[in-house]
Amino acid sequence: MNTVTALPELRAARRSLSGTVGFVPTMGYLHTGHISLVQAAMAECDHVVASIFVNPTQFGPNEDLAKYPRDLPRDLAMLEAAGADLVWTPTVEIMYPSGFQTWVEVEGLTRPLEGEIRPGHFRGVTTIVAKLFNAVGPDKAYFGQKDAQQAAVIRRMTKDLDFPIEIVVCPTLREADGLAMSSRNTYLNPGERQAATVLFCALSAAKSAFDSGERGAEKLRALVRKTVSAEPLAKLQYVSCADYDTLEELETVRCKALLSLAVYVGKTRLIDNFVIG
Ligand code: PAF
Repeated sequence: MNTVTALPELRAARRSLSGTVGFVPTMGYLHTGHISLVQAAMAECDHVVASIFVNPTQFGPNEDLAKYPRDLPRDLAMLEAAGADLVWTPTVEIMYPSGFQTWVEVEGLTRPLEGEIRPGHFRGVTTIVAKLFNAVGPDKAYFGQKDAQQAAVIRRMTKDLDFPIEIVVCPTLREADGLAMSSRNTYLNPGERQAATVLFCALSAAKSAFDSGERGAEKLRALVRKTVSAEPLAKLQYVSCADYDTLEELETVRCKALLSLAVYVGKTRLIDNFVIG
């Protein structure tokens, strides 16, 4: 596995890869969910390129940029074991050199949910992903369903800016008790870790009501609220039952919908979602 940092080195290494390239962009501190993206890319492409970059522009001023977990040697060992061919680990100075003033912004899809709570977050995501796409030039790029809105926003950006890249969204990987895998789970103390299963329990309660015939979106949201409020360590930030494509809140679930929530467990903010319908 080749690991590069400078942009010219990345470009040279990329040119030496013939055939199709699958790309897995990450912010590091990898877990099995990231590795499943690498495996999906390996199954579908001739080569796999991954990037590790904790992107400062997608963190708000009061968010966890400074304490975001990092362990480059461990990440590289995991990527090598998974079979990645090339890993790009750019620095902040490489991605945002002095004088940087160009941004990529998707409009409507970034307004609700995470976009409403985290202003500027998606502008940071789309800007960095566009730069990564330009530099790596992959055929396919792999993202997790856990960040469902991010995947929708990146799909929109890819289409709108004519990137010749197929966006592949892979299923959320979960711990045995249902907690969605996330680098941020490492912030949880043992009590909070147990409490964090409330996200999965709340989504499951709403999903089983849906499976039993409930189609009222507010009824489903109310079930999520009720389940989360029963967990003393958890505080619901939002619950949404929205159209899968537009992310507009629904009154009635008639076709594919995204049931999503954000919850503070102690000081840690966690998100999760189920697709229903
Ligand atoms: O999902 C992530 O880890 C990040 O948002 C991404 C896509 C790597 C951009 O920094």
